[in-house]
Amino acid sequence: MASPNSQTHETSLHLIDRHWVDFVLAHVNPLWSVVATKARLLEVRRESPDTSTFVLQPNSRWQGFRPGQFVPLRVRIDGVVHERCYTLTGPPSATTLELTIRRRPGGIVSSFLHDRLRVGAVVELGPAQGDFVLPEVLPGKLLLIAGGIGITPLYGLVHDVLARESNTDVALLYYAHGDRDFVFRTALDALAVVSPALRIDYVTGGRSHAPCDATTLARIVPDWSERLAYACGPEPLLEAVGATFAAADRSAWLRVERFGRKAPTVAGTAHTVTYARSGVVAVAGGSTLLEAAECAGLRPAYGCRMGICRTCRCRKVEGPVRDLSTGAVDDAPGRDIRLCVTEPVGPVTLDL
Ligand code: FES
Repeated sequence: MASPNSQTHETSLHLIDRHWVDFVLAHVNPLWSVVATKARLLEVRRESPDTSTFVLQPNSRWQGFRPGQFVPLRVRIDGVVHERCYTLTGPPSATTLELTIRRRPGGIVSSFLHDRLRVGAVVELGPAQGDFVLPEVLPGKLLLIAGGIGITPLYGLVHDVLARESNTDVALLYYAHGDRDFVFRTALDALAVVSPALRIDYVTGGRSHAPCDATTLARIVPDWSERLAYACGPEPLLEAVGATFAAADRSAWLRVERFGRKAPTVAGTAHTVTYARSGVVAVAGGSTLLEAAECAGLRPAYGCRMGICRTCRCRKVEGPVRDLSTGAVDDAPGRDIRLCVTEPVGPVTLDL
């Protein structure tokens, strides 16, 4: 039986705010935390003129990942916390993490990472996410189609296939603007030399010169329609790939990962949105529920603003909404929704 003293001690511990503990720990070692997954920047490797790989040492709270997944990364820039999602490109077995990040023109976070984040700095990570991963049982043939920085998850899939020592035949079709824009080219070519089952075709040209129709595919990968396919890259390329697979009745064999997808906003009728906990009523028309909340002066948490990270998840008390990533309308009460990719299609009440 616990002594009165130990009971008091236990009660006290329960009362201690874990975030306060974290605050103290961070002063001893910025990597230590009882609540957050943190990582220290060990190295930055240049991959192409606008792309670098950031090598990070995570703390013990990191739970691992599967090749093809991404991770939310949080940094404080001039006092404001920003979050973005980046693909994990290193091997899952390594003790360090690798994020390969392209500098986006005007991108607040990518510019900060490239220009201001110094070796030794500590960032915060979320859990690895995403279902752009290979099946447990690998197919006999794979087709990987990458455009630009869309190579990052596919690079992980290539490594995954090779690490499993399977007999899977892999055809990688990689589009980029010019020769200098191919990320990982040296590493990929080295893998192709030692892995006869890996074949890589590089295609250069602007987006409008990156055909991915059935004729082009058949010329480069004659048996493309017999392969399970994964595609990641700019929207025009993905649309072309999607149309080609649909025309061949092969859509079920295509997995697509989109970067930088903006939540589409629809110019529609205005509807009343009640943010019940905040006691705020707003009118949303042609905007997502996240944008409407921000316009009403609220500050709900968000990360990617693309429907990926789920940071903006919120309980809808009632009312009809449309999920802009699927087009599905849902009128059922008590549902969790993502504010950044949801618009009202009638009066809505949120637990926010
Ligand atoms: S902010 Fe990432 S899902 Fe909404």
